[in-house]
Amino acid sequence: MPVNLQGLTDNARKTAVAELNARLADALALSSAVKQAHWNVKGRNFIAVHELFDSVFANLQLHVDEMAERVQQLDGTAIGTVEKVAKTSSLKEYPTDLTKAEDHLKAICARMRDYGEKLRAAIDVTGEAGDADTADLLTAASRAADKDLWFMESHLE
Ligand SMILES: [Fe+2]
Repeated sequence: MPVNLQGLTDNARKTAVAELNARLADALALSSAVKQAHWNVKGRNFIAVHELFDSVFANLQLHVDEMAERVQQLDGTAIGTVEKVAKTSSLKEYPTDLTKAEDHLKAICARMRDYGEKLRAAIDVTGEAGDADTADLLTAASRAADKDLWFMESHLE
């Protein structure tokens, strides 16, 4: 048994694995949507928005990796294949017919907001279950989501 499972109840561990995998699926789906936006965006602000989407993608990847590896530390199985994520992500499907920067920004912001709200709920659930470390990891992901949402929404003013 991994060392860091000492002192964690089975319920805390199982709750954290379930919450982490659910938010991992959303983070991966959101990452794909952000790349879709990065590739397809057109218009006057092209470079700014194209590069912004890549920085949002890179930030998401940091937390994707942390969430998946925390699942492994908790003796679970990280689920991150596109086939599984397509079935388990709770985010709204990303449209493939958008081109305007404003449309991509609005569509990504809506999903980032949804992702952030669900992270906040998962922070509470894992904290209440007794896994403060997972709650902390999810808090870092939530804080990054808030920051990138602010960056993207500032382009919509
Ligand atoms: Fe690129």
